[in-house]
Amino acid sequence: MSTHSILVLNGPNLSRLGKREPEVYGAITLAEINRGLAESFPDVTFEFFQSEKEGDLLEKLFHCEDNGGISGVVLNAGALTHYSIALRDAISAVKLPIVEVHLSNIYAREAFRRTSVISEVCTGVISGFGPDSYHLGVRALITIAMKKEREAGR
Ligand code: DQA
Repeated sequence: MSTHSILVLNGPNLSRLGKREPEVYGAITLAEINRGLAESFPDVTFEFFQSEKEGDLLEKLFHCEDNGGISGVVLNAGALTHYSIALRDAISAVKLPIVEVHLSNIYAREAFRRTSVISEVCTGVISGFGPDSYHLGVRALITIAMKKEREAGR
């Protein structure tokens, strides 16, 4: 398997994992999730980025596209999932596979969380598996990248 580069992009409030509503999100911190990914996928080159600010996430996506070399993005957009048309438009604008992930099952919670304005423009959605949602997102991106390589005859 060739080396794949994956951006793990986290939005608002995900920096608070570990202390934030542990009954919903568990006790694991974002640093621990990221470390778990790096350990589980030693052949993947990861970039980890989190911001509380919508604009930072958009700029990161554009930067990745412009600079190339990224196989795809695992995105937990936090609450932006439910209302950010700017983020949706940015996802539509970039030609990268983007997997929407959530720790919790957003369809089993409050009504306002059952709407994702980004799902339609993401490659796929993984929701409700705790930290494993990120791992499954990475697996999905590797599968997509390997398929592309096969199709390109590499
Ligand atoms: C979340 C679900 C969102 O509704 C919430 O706003 C978050 C976290 C999740 O990972 O389960 O911040 O994306």
